[in-house]
Amino acid sequence: MAGSLGVLCYAVACLTASILAYAPTTILAIDRPVHLAVFTLVFSALSLILIARRSRLRRNTDPGHGGDYVSIPLAGFPDGEAETAKEKQRTHSYSLGSAALVATVLLAAAALTVRIDVQRRLLLASECATRSVEVWLPFLIAVYDALRFQERQEIRGAGDEDGDLDSSAYHDFAQSLKSSLLSSPWRYIPTAFLLSLGCHLVAGLWTTSPSSHVCPISSSDVVVIPRLQWLALFLDSFLAIATLELAIGGALPPTSVLSIPMSWAAVLTLSAGVWSVIAAYVNTTQPENHAWLSMEHEPSRAAATFSLVCQAVFLSAFCISSLYSVLNCGLTHISMALTALLTLIPGLRFIWSARRPYPPMSSINLTWSFMLMYFAWSLYSRIWRALHSSEPSPSTSRRLIIFTIFAVLLYPGLMKSNTMHFHPIDLLMYDAQNKYLKYLDYAARSKNLAEAVHTYQERYQGNPPPGFDVWFEFARNRSVWVTDEFNQIYNDLLPFRAIPPADLRQHTWDMVSNPWNEISGITIRGGIAKVQENVIPTHRWMLEGVVSIIESFSKHLPDMDLAFNLNDESRVALPYSDLRRLEEEALRTSFDGTASFSTDRASAWAEIPPEPITDTVFENWSFLNTFREWAASTCPPSSAARRSLSPMFRSQLCLNCVADHSLGQFVSDWSVAADPCHQPDLANLHGFYLSPAAFKSTHLPRPVFSQSKVRGFNDILYPSAWNYMDKVAYNPTDTSSADRPAFPDPLFRNKAVSLYWRGATSEGVSAGLGAWRGMTRQRMVHLANNLTSSQHDSVTLLLPDSKHSERYTYTTMSGSSLPEVGLETDVSFVNEIVRCGGRDCEAQEQEFGLVSPDDFQSHWKYKYLIDLDGAGFSGRFLPFLQSRSLPFKVALFREWYDSRLIPWLHFVPLDLRLHGLWSTLAYFAGVKGSDSNGRRWDWVGHEREAELIAESGREWSQKVLTKADMEVYFFRLLLEWGRLTDDKRDQLGFVS
Ligand SMILES: *[C@@H]1O[C@H](CO)[C@@H](O)[C@H](O)[C@H]1NC(C)=O
Ligand SMILES: *[C@@H]1O[C@H](CO)[C@@H](O)[C@H](O)[C@H]1NC(C)=O
Repeated sequence: MAGSLGVLCYAVACLTASILAYAPTTILAIDRPVHLAVFTLVFSALSLILIARRSRLRRNTDPGHGGDYVSIPLAGFPDGEAETAKEKQRTHSYSLGSAALVATVLLAAAALTVRIDVQRRLLLASECATRSVEVWLPFLIAVYDALRFQERQEIRGAGDEDGDLDSSAYHDFAQSLKSSLLSSPWRYIPTAFLLSLGCHLVAGLWTTSPSSHVCPISSSDVVVIPRLQWLALFLDSFLAIATLELAIGGALPPTSVLSIPMSWAAVLTLSAGVWSVIAAYVNTTQPENHAWLSMEHEPSRAAATFSLVCQAVFLSAFCISSLYSVLNCGLTHISMALTALLTLIPGLRFIWSARRPYPPMSSINLTWSFMLMYFAWSLYSRIWRALHSSEPSPSTSRRLIIFTIFAVLLYPGLMKSNTMHFHPIDLLMYDAQNKYLKYLDYAARSKNLAEAVHTYQERYQGNPPPGFDVWFEFARNRSVWVTDEFNQIYNDLLPFRAIPPADLRQHTWDMVSNPWNEISGITIRGGIAKVQENVIPTHRWMLEGVVSIIESFSKHLPDMDLAFNLNDESRVALPYSDLRRLEEEALRTSFDGTASFSTDRASAWAEIPPEPITDTVFENWSFLNTFREWAASTCPPSSAARRSLSPMFRSQLCLNCVADHSLGQFVSDWSVAADPCHQPDLANLHGFYLSPAAFKSTHLPRPVFSQSKVRGFNDILYPSAWNYMDKVAYNPTDTSSADRPAFPDPLFRNKAVSLYWRGATSEGVSAGLGAWRGMTRQRMVHLANNLTSSQHDSVTLLLPDSKHSERYTYTTMSGSSLPEVGLETDVSFVNEIVRCGGRDCEAQEQEFGLVSPDDFQSHWKYKYLIDLDGAGFSGRFLPFLQSRSLPFKVALFREWYDSRLIPWLHFVPLDLRLHGLWSTLAYFAGVKGSDSNGRRWDWVGHEREAELIAESGREWSQKVLTKADMEVYFFRLLLEWGRLTDDKRDQLGFVS
């Protein structure tokens, strides 16, 4: 190949590798490895065939230029230009015979086919992967190169370039070492080894922040996946070597049956063929394994295919440019360069995103790793130059520039400290106090009706709805404290302002008239609320509960119908641009009128038809990963969630995903933490996204009333009947009776120091593809019980610095040490594994120890309670708040009262990834005892702070989260809904 084309290939190979290394999940759909592999193989093969045809034409027309591919400057071989007859002869002696060539093609195709399957398995169970072993590829290749190609060479005057130093013994020794290294056939092995070692150290930098995904100890994956990683390494080495052998075999036209590109194309085509057959077979005979092949649940199949084609073109560019670079620069060189790039770039990215103390990083390992890589590379180029002295050695200034660039790139890592001068929780609690004061002023400003109307006009653009005076009086009589802060209602209803009242009524009718929708209606006529006839019996209690809330104020409501979501999961997700458009339209309207509700409203609402209709706008996505279609689509196009093509790798914590809402390991912004847009890794972290039990949603603006919703959804929130009806209630008893023992709620300081949780595996359905490994409940139970023997068995905790008592350092500790230093948990699934299918039932049974359920009232024995989402919101949270125990809340779902609670003042928030669980518990409970490294800890816990939060949560919930608050919230919501659905809505309003 010509020089400039060679440089181009090399540049393209490095560039594509860098892009891949920088943002793998933005570039590739790793969740569809088979599609991607087949597409890439086919594209690459086609391009190679084209190249082969072109070069054959050239060869025919220009016979004097025999063979473009004769020059194979493997490391140690002479350059193409310097080709002599003798060297041609030597190349010839390495080349394979025809039979061996065909055998190599077949073997390489088999290896490639297996390699793709290995990759697929590795991606499926990436939570079990250990540190990458792929970094040893250059070393293995250097060994092969040494055994097969490198020869002893006589070195002429090695070392002269260094000038005349005095010939001390040291100098002699250095000279002899140098010449023996240069002359030996093993000359590249030390440099390849050092490079691999450097890469190995870089890949170890981020092991301090593992993810909490469950790699089941009881499954074979724990053993198999690391072995597969090694297998992948050996297959890659084999493939690289086969690439080279085929190149040499194809280099000499007289002996070869295939030209170089044709032999490579043959390998790729064979492998693509085998995979197509496998895919077709699985598709037709094994519907249960369909999922890893199917593209059925793509937002748009054409778009998905187009995106796959682009990815495959990109990957093909990488493959072909790397293949041709091997011809030009030699295999050792290319494998070293690509491995270095593929490790260096994520390494630098990590260093820059880990500038703060968390996650901790060893600067010694960092320094060593980059020094090794730099040293290995410069040694390599020195040897190369010594053997082919055509190239001048780089000038000192160039070295200086490279060194400076490295220093700048590494600066944040080198300057990084794992120590903090304050504990983030102290700061967050202090902040919470300020937020609380602001909230007090914001939420209950009005002392009389006139002020309430004025505040409404100021905040919500327009007059309050008719009946506002009755509502205010109602709130007064019920002694409700929050009278001004109803931003949730405003935000929930805003997009529906852009929809005409008749359409809202029609949509409500459409939804409740088709039972498949799992949406049922409540009708209010003449001040009486009634559940509509066609409700599924199992859900009747829920709507009757809703009616009982409404009854307390229904006589003041105009006639209307309401559509209630019977499922726990959210229902309406407007795409980002649609929502923006509706909100803009809505903001152009205003409610300036003063009239009262229309009198003929009843006739405007159609009767429920006796025969159910079958039309629906809802799509069923139960059991499927809903993130991309239902969460990412609600995000701005520039957001991380939209840009990411596939879920993240699951073995590491995604640092960029937590940065926006965290201070170290702790949640600093509970509201932002609910936003999926900067957190594409959520796709694998919650049952609602991974595989919900019932998921029927729509992208159209439909007014559905739900008890809770995930950020990005546009359901209208209402206070759940679950809490209003006391389905679970805070109900401690101090004395035992005949049929029931006592369940007292002692003072905080008298409770057991333990973190307690009981529940079922009901967050989502794990239907056989291992979705449970990412669900929050499962991760929590595993983290609390089974850290000791799992893959990621070390935990990173923020503990006082051993030298400065005022400082805190992120320290790693083995999982088995946690109970020894006093961090006790009692976290279990009860009864049996539910919502599972296929092998996931057994897998979970083997992994988790199941216990029999305790009475709900026994929670109050423990100081620390965990509150986790189920399929929807957690109904237990309000009782937890009311108790004297301290709730730790982990949640994706948000309820009507979200804005009323201040995290770190009324409860303790935890990130869904749970990486701060132990540090948070350590802060409150203290750390006492020796860990398994023999370090002694004696850190007094912040029990006073814990009690403070527990008590303020308790008091506050009695103030703003009572049943009266639910009624008042609901009343106001329904007045607003009444106005929205009134044909004269622009004229309606109340002024005092
Ligand atoms: C440095 O790297 C070595 C080898 O990977 C590892 O064993 C060691 O724990 C690391 N040191 C620190 C402080 O992380
Ligand atoms: C996980 O921990 C629980 C509770 O200690 C135990 O019953 C279960 O056997 C553990 N699982 C495995 C696979 O060791």
